[in-house]
Amino acid sequence: MTQATPKPATRAQRTDTKQTSACRVALIGFGTVGRAVVKILCERGSSAIRLTHICNRNVARKKQDWVPRDVIWTDDVDAVLKSDADIVIELIGGLSPAEQIVRRALECGKSVVTANKQLIARMGPELLQLAGSKGCQLEFGASVAGGVPVLPSLRTGLCGDKLHGIAGILNGTCNYILSRIENARVPFSEALEEAQARGYAEADASEDLDGGDARAKLAILALAGLHARVAPESVRARTIRPVDAVDFDYAAELRCTIRQISRADWQGSTLFADVGPCLVPADSPFGRVQRNLNLVLTSGQYGGDMAFLGAGAGGDPTAVAVLSDVMFVAEGLAGDKRRVTSSVFAPEISSDFETPWYLRFFVKDQPGIVARLAQILGAHRLNIDSLLQKPGFDKASLPFVITLEPCRDSQLHPALEEMTGLPFSIRPCLCLPILR
Ligand SMILES: NC(=O)c1ccc[n+]([C@@H]2O[C@H](COP(=O)([O-])OP(=O)(O)OC[C@H]3O[C@@H](n4cnc5c(N)ncnc54)[C@H](OP(=O)(O)O)[C@@H]3O)[C@@H](O)[C@H]2O)c1
Repeated sequence: MTQATPKPATRAQRTDTKQTSACRVALIGFGTVGRAVVKILCERGSSAIRLTHICNRNVARKKQDWVPRDVIWTDDVDAVLKSDADIVIELIGGLSPAEQIVRRALECGKSVVTANKQLIARMGPELLQLAGSKGCQLEFGASVAGGVPVLPSLRTGLCGDKLHGIAGILNGTCNYILSRIENARVPFSEALEEAQARGYAEADASEDLDGGDARAKLAILALAGLHARVAPESVRARTIRPVDAVDFDYAAELRCTIRQISRADWQGSTLFADVGPCLVPADSPFGRVQRNLNLVLTSGQYGGDMAFLGAGAGGDPTAVAVLSDVMFVAEGLAGDKRRVTSSVFAPEISSDFETPWYLRFFVKDQPGIVARLAQILGAHRLNIDSLLQKPGFDKASLPFVITLEPCRDSQLHPALEEMTGLPFSIRPCLCLPILR
């Protein structure tokens, strides 16, 4: 006869028997954020939360003497999942094995707090459903904008509104590079090298520069704030790599600057979404965001516009967001509060925004260039708003700009295609939306 393995007591049972009223928390992933979580927890102290395990691969090298002695250090994830921890904090990042760990924790009835944007952007709706079916919670407040409490605000402070739009500067690496080019007029490559030297950009920064990171975060914001299920790949991502110092000179002529903006807007039953460099007014909230800060603006039907600004990354700010989620879940477990879930829609996703446009050309100067471009634009019923050409450039590589009156992306792109390969063009046209 086999003996059933005794199940660990649930928190409610322990509270009933007065064994302890503290919520038991196990952490998996003692890296930049995990270490900061434990440090803040140890420094602040909390009678409501008790750290039981720290789990990391090859854990021996991670041990710290400032961590309370009763905390169990382990590299065995199974031991954590079989323990009586009420909350598992997942901070290893990536999709695998993070997804399996989070699923198994929820299946065991443990609530989960994670900062893992890849996981939530791809699996968020399924995991939330699993959490709901097991009567536990899944919180991911640190997965977008690091320490800026935008996701908790969507969950609590703004859930009474009906949001129709969210826009943000969600990638600190891009913002560092663009604001550095803006302020020092250095070439893109120099700004990137500087960001890498300062630890703001990885050696392979493609995910950041080409918009992959920001669109995963936009998908999470759309889920939490717009109740839309959005596959990150369904959002168009435009790279910031072709943005040149000269674009900031021309943007300044238009009283604008350039930022990587992630935006999602309900228009009827379609969710318009896009990530990429845009012109924004220099004196607007987006235009003023410098260095690697993040900014999220929400637009609500009743409450109007709200702004959230702060450190989008870094061990300590991100750890604050993780711990705030842990406290929120602990409070919920104590009071048996449940997350109110809203219906999630799976809308059609479109990037066909109607905006004014900035088109920058690099050409080998010769007569008839403007006439030829104007002819193509006219043939596609596109109205020129202005033409900007600064003096003093080499005629063999002459940058100039045409701005267009508002039109849809789908109307502009056939014209851009017709412009590729024109004999005087020495670089592809850079085409940026102008957000007013
Ligand atoms: N850092 C930030 O500013 C920031 C901001 C917002 C969100 N986040 C998110 O927070 C999470 C953690 O980021 P982080 O910067 O702290 O990463 P990190 O410094 O790389 O830490 C990850 C930790 O997890 C451990 N680990 C990795 N795979 C494991 C596995 N299979 N089993 C056990 N342990 C494993 C790593 O061990 P090794 O030492 O062996 O590698 C490392 O200690 C990620 O989801 C990230 O996207 C980070």
